[in-house]
Amino acid sequence: MAEPFFEHPYLTGHHAPIRFEADAPDLIIEGKIPDDLAGIFYRNGPDPLYPPREGDYHWFDGDGMVFAFEIANGRVAMRNRWVKTDKFLLEKAAGKRLFGIFGNPMTSDPSVQGKRYNTGNTNIILHGGQLLALMEGAPPVALDPRGLETLGEQQYGGLVTSSFSAHPKIDYLTGEMFNTGAAIHGMMGAAEMRYDIVRADGTIRKTEIIPMPHFSLMHTFLLTENWAIFPFIPIDTDLKRFAAGGPMTAWVNNRPTKLAIMPREGTAADVQWFEYEPRHMFHELNVWEEDGKIIADVAAANGTALFPDETGARRTHGDTQQSLRRWTIDPAGNTSSIKEETLNGRDIQFPRPDDRLMTRKSRQSFANINLQSRDGRVGGMDAVLRFDTQTGEEDIWHFGAGAAAGELVFAPRLGGTEEADGYAMTLVHPANSAHSELAIFAAKDIAAGPIARVLLPFRVPSGFHCNFYSADNRFYTQAITN
Ligand SMILES: [Fe+2]
Repeated sequence: MAEPFFEHPYLTGHHAPIRFEADAPDLIIEGKIPDDLAGIFYRNGPDPLYPPREGDYHWFDGDGMVFAFEIANGRVAMRNRWVKTDKFLLEKAAGKRLFGIFGNPMTSDPSVQGKRYNTGNTNIILHGGQLLALMEGAPPVALDPRGLETLGEQQYGGLVTSSFSAHPKIDYLTGEMFNTGAAIHGMMGAAEMRYDIVRADGTIRKTEIIPMPHFSLMHTFLLTENWAIFPFIPIDTDLKRFAAGGPMTAWVNNRPTKLAIMPREGTAADVQWFEYEPRHMFHELNVWEEDGKIIADVAAANGTALFPDETGARRTHGDTQQSLRRWTIDPAGNTSSIKEETLNGRDIQFPRPDDRLMTRKSRQSFANINLQSRDGRVGGMDAVLRFDTQTGEEDIWHFGAGAAAGELVFAPRLGGTEEADGYAMTLVHPANSAHSELAIFAAKDIAAGPIARVLLPFRVPSGFHCNFYSADNRFYTQAITN
């Protein structure tokens, strides 16, 4: 019997889990889906099946639930399914939560000691002919690209058996996927990470093991045509600290941000180290090279409210809100520091480019931002933005105070190739509503408001990452045969 959930900011309001799976074959649409928009919009996020054991919760800890919106011929069909990992199945069989938060062995049930903690709750991508649900602490989980039923872990022939980040980079010219796995031996083992290159067919071409300066929560990494950049931000997980009564995962005060810069096809012996002031950085917009320098447009902040510091003290959203910043790194220069500029000071969550330009120069940013909520992470990011990093032009739509808008992703027009030629879409929960909707915009006129609103008969909890694959995208045609 499932017990009631306790009160927690990430278990109520926009975040309250729905705990059901559904199929909606033909959703009601206000406005019109354009004829040249077709494909699948995927969204992943946490929807905990059971309340945590500790009486506490973390936003990143819930069981992954994937939503798929298939758009074709002016119609939209929706389906949602949990990512049914071994963790999910063990807990469902027991009728209660067995794993501690983040799989903490000290708070887990004895029956799951040594078993894999995998929620698959963070990102959802098509690659190598498969739909992959990703979280950074475990291998990807393959799902049926349309039916969303769980097929099992994708371990790439036994090569990926531990961490694999939720933010791989795709080179659209080759179809290859690049990714990292931090702390591959767990929190008690040697501090090492791996760097993998996966061919377009889903087989691994290269793996490099790289020493970490210290354990660090590496949520993303940066990639250009010639360089891979691994950021070690001052957030770590420390079981000894937890055993001594401190937080398991914490911001470590006064620890600099360290960047390992390695040639994209290089080895650990080629790594150059750069250092900068302490920064929180989980998501980049895009990264490329110009005149031999690395230009990284990132969402960064000087601290975080997502975790306490090592003393247990917590900061607020207000004084740790992220802005869009440009980091310039010169691998051939005479400094081991970086240059940082603010491109856009708005409270920004997830910046996204036209994905086809990933690792190449781009100028258009799509993002969900916060205009009026006091706490955008809990209260909801209430607006969406297109921002031209070259001209500074802003193009904004405000859903109204109290709305919660998810990641805004670009959706190319069928047959289009120019940057930002197409649409942009986000899953939004309006204020004081029992329903969510998929809001679709003309990509270059966000301020005109949605051209189509796909109405859901229920609320979708706030989640993490989204991706749109148009029907002419190489990864769509590889994974989905009509
Ligand atoms: Fe993320």
